[in-house]
Amino acid sequence: MSVTIKTPDEIAKMRIAGRKAAEVLEYIEPYIVPGVSTAELDHLCHKYITDVQKATPAPLNYKGFPKSICTSVNHVVCHGIPSEKKILKSGDIINVDVTVIVDEYHGDTSKMFLVGKVAPHAERLVKVTQECLYKGIELVKPGAHLGDIGHVIQQHAEGNYYSVVRDYCGHGIGKIFHEDPQVLHYGTPGTGMELVEGMTFTIEPMINAGKSGTKLKSDGWTVETRDGRLSAQWEHTLAVTATGVEVLTARNEERF
Ligand code: MF3
Ligand code: CO
Ligand code: CO
Repeated sequence: MSVTIKTPDEIAKMRIAGRKAAEVLEYIEPYIVPGVSTAELDHLCHKYITDVQKATPAPLNYKGFPKSICTSVNHVVCHGIPSEKKILKSGDIINVDVTVIVDEYHGDTSKMFLVGKVAPHAERLVKVTQECLYKGIELVKPGAHLGDIGHVIQQHAEGNYYSVVRDYCGHGIGKIFHEDPQVLHYGTPGTGMELVEGMTFTIEPMINAGKSGTKLKSDGWTVETRDGRLSAQWEHTLAVTATGVEVLTARNEERF
């Protein structure tokens, strides 16, 4: 597979899909409280996406994934499956990952939420991981290389004594959920693909408090840290513009 360059019309469609994905994260925030199950969060998001937005939740039935969002709590790195049995409690950190399809195009974004009162070390992991995403986004422009993005993320994570997950990465996105290129969250400046106007891809660093190793649970989806320590992730879908970057999944709370 090779990288697809989107036309302005395609970017316009991705802007709409991206905005809708962001709105799901804005919508679900007040429900993320101690006592709620991750299945309930999935149910609320599913109804909002299908009934209100008239959009399609991309994860549902994607390669057999059974739910409409991913919910990854504490030591779960990514692809957590919402469950009635997973009840949030004060002190948890949770990533909610939303991907919607509108008019054939995907918007993919995730953020961390703090449940109740969270320990300072956990809040710090969440904050540094968001900074990793933002530092990556800042470098996106024509002529930059994917390795520049990976490098700045790795530097910031490791500079804070955290580790970068290497088993999963960001990805090109468009009519296809996961397409080329692979966007690694570690790397060397000046290496990797050179960015050109019209590319659309995600940056979605997964940063671990301990070691970078992961293990896949027997459900075939849930990815956990090998050492059982905390992991955090933030994700945006981006378009490379003539002069820089457009964050297609920006929320109202963000300023780019
Ligand atoms: N949204 C995830 C990503 O950022 C992919 C989830 S695939 C699923 O790429 F099947 F687990 F939903
Ligand atoms: Co993604
Ligand atoms: Co995602």
